[in-house]
Amino acid sequence: MRDINQFTITQAVKDSFKTEPGSRFEGLLQGLIQHLHDFTREQNVTHEEWLAALDFLYRCGQISTPERHEFILLSDVLGWSALVDMINTRGGATEGSNLGPFYLDNAPAKTLGGDLGDGRDGVVVLVHGRVTDTLKNPLPGAVIDTWQADSAGTYPIQEEGQDKYDLRGKFSCDENARYYYTTVLPKPYTVPYDGPVGDLLRAGNRHAWRAPHMHFIVTAPRMAGITTEIFFRNTEYLDNDAVFGVRRSLVADIKPAKDLDKLGYALDKQPDAVIEFDFVLAPEG
Ligand code: BEZ
Ligand code: FE
Repeated sequence: MRDINQFTITQAVKDSFKTEPGSRFEGLLQGLIQHLHDFTREQNVTHEEWLAALDFLYRCGQISTPERHEFILLSDVLGWSALVDMINTRGGATEGSNLGPFYLDNAPAKTLGGDLGDGRDGVVVLVHGRVTDTLKNPLPGAVIDTWQADSAGTYPIQEEGQDKYDLRGKFSCDENARYYYTTVLPKPYTVPYDGPVGDLLRAGNRHAWRAPHMHFIVTAPRMAGITTEIFFRNTEYLDNDAVFGVRRSLVADIKPAKDLDKLGYALDKQPDAVIEFDFVLAPEG
């Protein structure tokens, strides 16, 4: 009989799984067991700590609903989501950033030059730019799917009585791969902190605020789509976003609305300010 002790147990557990040799699943599972056991030995985890961790995960499950995924939020505040975004960004492409919980995959199609603000108060901004490949060739078939909070920091989907499709839409780029629309400048808001993840933030003396941002999913034929966010220079929480979403390359300037005629856009609404951001996609595969 094989003797199992605190050192040999790791290999015994790894050997107990009969997975396909060399498969991705095997690699992930074996690595997870190794790191979990190493962590437990390094930290000398006690029964109380082990149970507290499992109870924490249980509470994450209890508070989760189809609209609220506490485990994703946990991944976000631990920087795990951001790390996965970072290691999966393709060379030369726009860096990826949080999808967040407020994405709807059936946002309405909107017309270039239209207003996404849906009559909301706030600073009206023109958001515009181009979508190119990594060699700066325009990708005229690109589609921009965007969603954002309002100028009070609220997503319409969070508010009873508001239309959940407000402040979101899909824009097909023009023949020069340009996109342009007006909207209101979003304000900072907090990630949900009334559950176990909020308890974790409080225990670590952390706040729940996100730097103001707009979300984007950008796609184009034969290119790898990106999920990302644009942030704004000189706004709050850029250096301590609760979910580590900010990258230097994703911070855009808010410029005064001047000489807009030169751009040749037909806009439904006159903007107070302008944000320009070009998206870069890498080939798929
Ligand atoms: C958001 O950007 O909307 C978000 C991201 C992560 C957690 C909560 C909200
Ligand atoms: Fe968001």
